[in-house]
Parts: sequence; C-alpha cells; structure tokens
Amino acid sequence: MNILVTGGAGYIGSHTCVALIEAGHTVIVVDNLCNSKADTIDRVKEITNKEVIFYKIDVTDEAKVDKVFLNHDIDGIIHFAGLKAVGESVEKPLDYYYNNLVGTMILSKLCQKYNVNKFVFSSSATVYGNNTVPFVETMELLPTTNPYGETKAMSERILTDVVKANPDFSVSLLRYFNPVGAHKSGLIGEAPNGIPNNLMPYVAQVAKGKLEKLRVFGNDYPTVDGTGVRDYIHVMDIAEGHVAAIERLNEGVNIFNLGTGQGTSVLQLVKAFEEANDIKISYEIVERRLGDIAECYADASKAKRELGWQARRNIIDMCRDAWRFEKNYEG
Ligand code: NAD
Ligand code: UFG
Repeated sequence: MNILVTGGAGYIGSHTCVALIEAGHTVIVVDNLCNSKADTIDRVKEITNKEVIFYKIDVTDEAKVDKVFLNHDIDGIIHFAGLKAVGESVEKPLDYYYNNLVGTMILSKLCQKYNVNKFVFSSSATVYGNNTVPFVETMELLPTTNPYGETKAMSERILTDVVKANPDFSVSLLRYFNPVGAHKSGLIGEAPNGIPNNLMPYVAQVAKGKLEKLRVFGNDYPTVDGTGVRDYIHVMDIAEGHVAAIERLNEGVNIFNLGTGQGTSVLQLVKAFEEANDIKISYEIVERRLGDIAECYADASKAKRELGWQARRNIIDMCRDAWRFEKNYEG
C-alpha cells in the first residue's frame, strides 16, 4: 500500500516508517519538523535501504496537504502529527486544540475528497483517565486532566462521527501506553528537546552523565513499591502494531490498546536499566508530580485476538535499546 504518514519524522512515526517499509509498503511522510529533524528521514532510508518521499508541510495547511493527496495514489493514512507535551498543553491550550484537532479534521476531510478509506490515529491511554486498571477498550472514557488528553478524546469522537456519516471510511484508534526504546540500529530513537519529561529518556540521560540524578516522583502510591506503575512498550512493537492495524482494518471504528499488559514501577524500571546496561542510576525520591495516576496498564488481549499482534520485546530490550540510542546520539 501507499501510506501517508503524518509526523513520520517524529519518534513513533519514524519507527513506524521502518516497520511499514520492511512489510513492503511505500511511505509518504508529511511533517513540519516542529519537534523533529529532517535527518531522521535519512536514517530511515539508511536502515531500510529504500526511498522515503518527504514533504515538509504543516498538516493544518489544507492547500498544501491537498496537493500531496492529489499527487499520490494514497491507500491509507497513519496520523501521528501532533503536539504531545502534557505540561505545555496546560500553558498553551489553544496551540494544542488548534494543531491537534484542525490537523485531524483536515486529513479526514481530504480522505473523503480523495476516497482514501483507511485512517489510523495515534490516541493515548490518557483517554481512560482515572478508570480502574487494567484499561479495556470498552470502558467509558473519563475526563482527562489536561488539554493534550482532551485533544485525543475529541479526535476520537470526531473520527467516529466521520465514520458514521461515511460508512466506507474505516478508522483505527490506537491507544498507546508508554512507548520507549529505540530501533536496534541505534540510528533513530527518542530525542526530546530540553530536559525530558518522561522517565526512560530521563534515565538514559542520567546514565550518560547529562543529568545528575533521577527524581522519582513519589513513593507513597498504592503500588508494589510505592512508585508509579506504567505499561512500557517497545517503540518497534508499537510500530508493528500500526502495520497490523492498517493491514487488517475492519469496517467502522476499531479501537485497540497498544500495550504489553504488564505494569512496571519506576524503581523496577531503574533496576532493569541498571541490569540491562551495567550502569548505576542515581536517584532521589521527591514529591508526587501533579496530575500523575498511580497505575496505568493495558488489557492487551483485544489486539492479540483481532489483529494477531502482541508486544514481543521485554523491559530489558527496551532499556538496552534506549541506552544504545542515547549513547550514540549527539544532539
Ligand atoms: P513526536 O513529537 O516525536 O512526533 C510528532 C511529529 O509530528 C513530530 O515530528 C512533529 O514535528 C510533527 N508535527 C507536529 N505537529 C505537526 C503539524 N501541525 N504538521 C506536521 N507535522 C507536525 O511525538 P511521538 O512521541 O512520535 O508521538 C506521535 C503521536 O503519538 C502523537 O500524536 C502523540 O500525541 C501520540 N502519542 C505519543 C505517546 C508517547 O508517549 N510518545 C503516547 C500516546 C500517544
Ligand atoms: N517519573 C519519575 N521521574 C521522572 C519522570 C517520570 O518518577 O523524571 C515517573 C512518573 O511519575 C510516572 C512514570 O515515571 O509514574 C512514567 O512517567 P512518564 O512521564 O514517562 O509517562 P506518563 O505515564 O506520565 O505519561 C505518558 C505520556 C503522556 C500520555 C501518558 C498516557 O508522556 O503523553 O503516558 O499514555 F498521555
């Protein structure tokens, strides 16, 4: 298939381009590079030894995106392009609502215009809010606590309504848990700007000596050791989940958790990183971070049952690959 990948220069998008190309698909990337670099596309080409068509375009620029649809015979679209920093979304809500919602609306409108009937969307486990773990796709969605999460819940509703009005249009809403790690080549991975918000890149930068020590946000949660529990999933497993989702897209709205189903605490992750890489990670326990929940992990059975996909890489693989990328990365 010819697949339009928006946000394909970003962290999850670039790994998904590799998985799509390796599965025999052709990718056309649209990215405005607001949170990524063009050389990531070169690295995808280096890994796969295949061409990647790349347009530096903003998905909210309808006229320019229209030309991409016009110039290529697109079979399906995977829409990653979006802003994703939770804290920043509280400070700049309009940037988040505009970018994430207008992007989704323009792309679904152009899908109708050009008769593109397969649409895969990057949603997030954040839409489950404060439900009880494990999170199951059938759960009623609870309000999220920030504009970023709202853009994901609203995009899900927008796409669901577009499907209702256009029965030929099929959508897959993929709710990711915590993507971490990197491609095994070490050529692409997660390279956040500034000080990382997320645990794994923070730990990797402590290992590198870029940051002094990890601050563990709270050890008084009702969890195995008091620290927050998350469902970390290797980014290449997430990438392969997208290949399965677009290749096996059923009619209507398809919702899938992309997680492992396994919870790992902050201290368990630190220990796994130390073991996988033979490096000591200094840390201190500090106050809880505002807005964090105690536990977040998936019931991952639906994707296994219906897509034939399940995560194959374990927490040691995730820590080893995250470190390999960080070690090599000069950014
Ligand atoms: P990322 O920032 O690395 O990738 C997003 C890409 O989209 C970037 O390359 C950025 O330049 C591009 N982009 C943003 N706005 C754009 C616009 N208007 N037009 C064109 N390009 C634009 O983030 P990621 O971690 O790869 O996340 C990809 C998607 O998955 C996002 O929608 C994110 O919200 C979602 N998601 C991520 C996580 C996570 O933990 N990483 C979890 C759940 C969901
Ligand atoms: N943590 C620390 N110290 C840090 C960073 C994180 O102790 O420096 C802890 C957090 O308190 C949490 C766990 O590590 O218990 C994971 O935190 P992350 O920031 O890595 O991930 P979150 O689960 O908070 O958030 C992620 C994405 C969100 C998404 C959410 C649900 O960043 O965008 O998963 O999918 F909404």
